[in-house]
Amino acid sequence: MTELILSLDVLDRKEAVKVAESCAPFIDAIKIGYPLVLSSGLSIVEDLADLALPLIADFKVADIPNTNRLICEAVFSAGFDAVIAHGFVGADAARTCVEVAHRHSGAAYIVAEMSHPGATEFFHGGVAENLAELAVSCRADGIIAPATRPDRISRLREIVGSKAIYSPGVGAQGGDLDTVARLVDGVIVGRSIYEAENPGAEAERFSRIRR
Ligand code: XMP
Repeated sequence: MTELILSLDVLDRKEAVKVAESCAPFIDAIKIGYPLVLSSGLSIVEDLADLALPLIADFKVADIPNTNRLICEAVFSAGFDAVIAHGFVGADAARTCVEVAHRHSGAAYIVAEMSHPGATEFFHGGVAENLAELAVSCRADGIIAPATRPDRISRLREIVGSKAIYSPGVGAQGGDLDTVARLVDGVIVGRSIYEAENPGAEAERFSRIRR
């Protein structure tokens, strides 16, 4: 089974909750990033709590260890279940995110390679492989890898083994749902679901990967 994770980049608080509620029966987790938290505040977590779905904070945390610690403490104290962090800041900084997550019985995922076209300007020549190795050595729970480049997911799988791979880039960014679902533990989908006329029905359609 591959998980379906809704990326809830909806700016209006009421609309975000409405979309989440309609998709809830068909998804395994909700990923929330800067767009929704900056428009609604961290308390959006409380509005979504009744859905009883894991909430992933996509803050791509990328600072010195002490600041990473402060950010992750705030994330987990607010009620999130997982955080996404960058690894390029170094093992000490990434490990701090993992340690805080685990202290809160949560999870931390490291970005290994990004999904947009510009990502290849820097994520090449072994950089993503190094970041995947860092995720393993830091005892992260998994990595983020690009649905837009399935061949790269397969390469990174060789490094992370059974650790989770979550993959954004399906739909709006061009990644193919079924191809990617076979390679990863969870597919992250945003616009293709929340911009649909009927987000719940679209989530149900995407949820075929969960069977
Ligand atoms: P869409 O609308 O493109 O939303 O389905 C995708 C969501 O995932 C985020 N995103 C990424 N996050 N590494 C990440 O950690 C990536 O390579 C990546 N690509 C997309 C994006 O911010 C949005 O929330």
